Amino acid sequence: MKRLVILISGRGSNMEAIVKACAAEGWPATVAAVISNRPDAGGLAFAAGRGIATAVVDHKLFPRREDFDAELARVIDGFGADLVVLAGFMRILTPGFTARYARRMLNIHPSLLPAFTGLHTHERALEMGCKLAGATVHFVTAELDHGAILMQAAVPVLPGDDAQALAARVLTAEHRIYPQAVRWFAEDALAWDGDVVRHRDGAAQQLMLS
Ligand code: GAR
Repeated sequence: MKRLVILISGRGSNMEAIVKACAAEGWPATVAAVISNRPDAGGLAFAAGRGIATAVVDHKLFPRREDFDAELARVIDGFGADLVVLAGFMRILTPGFTARYARRMLNIHPSLLPAFTGLHTHERALEMGCKLAGATVHFVTAELDHGAILMQAAVPVLPGDDAQALAARVLTAEHRIYPQAVRWFAEDALAWDGDVVRHRDGAAQQLMLS
């Protein structure tokens, strides 16, 4: 059984999707803890209500990024994490931190990477007239929103969409692919080919929603 530590900054709906998936019989992973960098993150109450350990490492208390990351790592390691899962965790991490969790830290990003790294992905996709949008689960490296792509979901951009409508459609897709990606990690079903990661048995690493 692999131990997950999930990092959030806010609502935590992806964390919720993973917690619910892990509760199903036969799941190879358990959520050891949910950690937030913000004391007011909505997702903390959900996790606590499910009997999951929660912790806050408030970034505002650490003047230097390195000090925040060092404390975060100490708390993560205290929960015996096999996999660190960033789920709407809105802090840039130092290279030392990303190296410590190399190939055992995942992130979900609301775009079809490598398009639209950073913030305001949906606004930018709409401005560019994209016809497809989506989400990407990837391993975390020092470079923001780069790192091996584990799974992607595509959704259509529909006439009349605003950023909110598109974000909601993408979020539904996020809730489908993130638990699946975590499961594959927990099952040791992933194979690395240089910097590229594949499912060992060739399972589809993409989801197309209409
Ligand atoms: C999700 O859409 C996630 O992809 C995005 O924040 C949202 C968090 O929602 N993450 C990023 O933008 C990371 N750069 P949630 O708290 O309900 O899971």
